[in-house]
Amino acid sequence: KARLHTKTLGQKLVYKEEVSSTQEEAHKLAGKNEPDGTVVAADKQFQGKGRLDRPWVSASGTGLWFSIILRPDIRPQYAPQLTLLAAVAVTEGITNASGLHPRIKWPNDILLNGKKTAGILTEMQSDPDRVQAVIIGIGLNINHKIDDFPPELQSKATSLALENKGTAFHRADITASVLRSLEYWYEMYLTDGFGAVRRRWEELADTVGGHVRAVSRLKTVEGYAEGITDDGVLLIKQEDGTIEKIYSADID
Ligand code: BTN
Repeated sequence: KARLHTKTLGQKLVYKEEVSSTQEEAHKLAGKNEPDGTVVAADKQFQGKGRLDRPWVSASGTGLWFSIILRPDIRPQYAPQLTLLAAVAVTEGITNASGLHPRIKWPNDILLNGKKTAGILTEMQSDPDRVQAVIIGIGLNINHKIDDFPPELQSKATSLALENKGTAFHRADITASVLRSLEYWYEMYLTDGFGAVRRRWEELADTVGGHVRAVSRLKTVEGYAEGITDDGVLLIKQEDGTIEKIYSADID
């Protein structure tokens, strides 16, 4: 705790060695009025949850898995802004603590040399017109060796240590740095709105300004990635000039 240097984020910290999913724990706590900035962290998760109902491999004890409860006074449709904000914070937090330079892949995969080293899952508890809590789950692959990933992920996943010639990091340092940067951007967001966050996201994202293919269950859209909207929607300009809005998809 002494190393956190944050004002609110993580000042209430619930740490568990092993848990089914920190996301689930945070949902329970959010329902019980735990304050803005509460963090639930674990060394191992047995049922880590990823985006789009995918499992998130996190039982090895070589990463850090945590979920943050935020209570911004916003309408539910703006919650995706916090996903992009978290991606900016994780990217900068990793850079500040490790010297490595990850890039963002829309909406919020954090990649080093094209492989995923962190993932973010944002969920919320909400009334029809007001957010009660946004739960931001962050998974950081920190000291994994390649065999800590299942074979089918070994070409797509990586860890900070693997991209650092195998030299391990202190997991608490990386986590503290991510929380510090999350607090910085969250305060900026609450006072100045989404503009600065969006500009920074676009600088750190490889997805924008190039040719992409967005694959979802419904369809595949190919074209030039123009940018993101205030709602976190990806805009793709197709060959015929029409602009398609992508809400949820995987990007090739
Ligand atoms: C993704 O890229 O699919 C998102 C992965 C999010 C994983 C984190 S780990 C902490 C929190 N608890 C979970 O069960 N999931 C998130």
